[in-house]
Amino acid sequence: MITQPAGGMVRGKIGPGLILKDTDMKFFIDTADIGEIEDLAATGLVDGVTTNPSLVAKTGRDFKDTIRQICRIVDGPVSAEVAATDADGMIEEGRLLAAIADNVAVKVPLTWDGLKACRSLSQAGTMVNVTLCFSATQALLAAKAGATFISPFIGRLDDIGLDGMELIQEIRIIYDNYEDLGTEILAASIRSPNHVKLSAMAGADVATVPPSVLKGLVKHPLTDKGLDAFLSDWAKTGQSIL
Ligand code: E4P
Repeated sequence: MITQPAGGMVRGKIGPGLILKDTDMKFFIDTADIGEIEDLAATGLVDGVTTNPSLVAKTGRDFKDTIRQICRIVDGPVSAEVAATDADGMIEEGRLLAAIADNVAVKVPLTWDGLKACRSLSQAGTMVNVTLCFSATQALLAAKAGATFISPFIGRLDDIGLDGMELIQEIRIIYDNYEDLGTEILAASIRSPNHVKLSAMAGADVATVPPSVLKGLVKHPLTDKGLDAFLSDWAKTGQSIL
């Protein structure tokens, strides 16, 4: 059952995996394509950007230049992923990436080395997004390592016949059980508007969505049909509002 807060916002569990929180749900876009980011940022609906090595490779552009440019377009967190796999290498790369702009969130993989790097970078005041999360216990470790964001990959779990959304619900319950776990749940690997809806219902703090999915959120055939009918009836009135 979904309950609305009466007379102000309520924070707390309403039922298993269903939370009312006192903050907005944020939309990040999951792309390294500058054109798409500029286009969507103009809507005012983009709270941040996530990139990954595959998305950067698709652009064929220089990685650090791309991140610099994205950080100028979007004020919110811009995730830039390290390529090293050892903790020292990740920390070194992370420091370089963080130096590009204040809103860079360094992305590290959910490995022991990634967690070590997360701890060190977050203690130095850098935002860290721990990526490639596929279990609730991984998410618990990332939060304890001081992650700013944890990125559970919904679509990739669905792809192998598991339930990605269940993972978001589990993490929400665990994080809300402990006041000191301040990590934000960033629902990732989102493939459809339905994934966005279910992430919001499960209390994800952020959904990172491909541009096509963000654009798809506004679409409904009955909206188009209704608008056509209203416009045609309006034309019959022969009036003008201006
Ligand atoms: C998140 O930060 C990742 O870049 C992304 O959501 C992965 O999505 P995919 O599984 O569609 O590649």
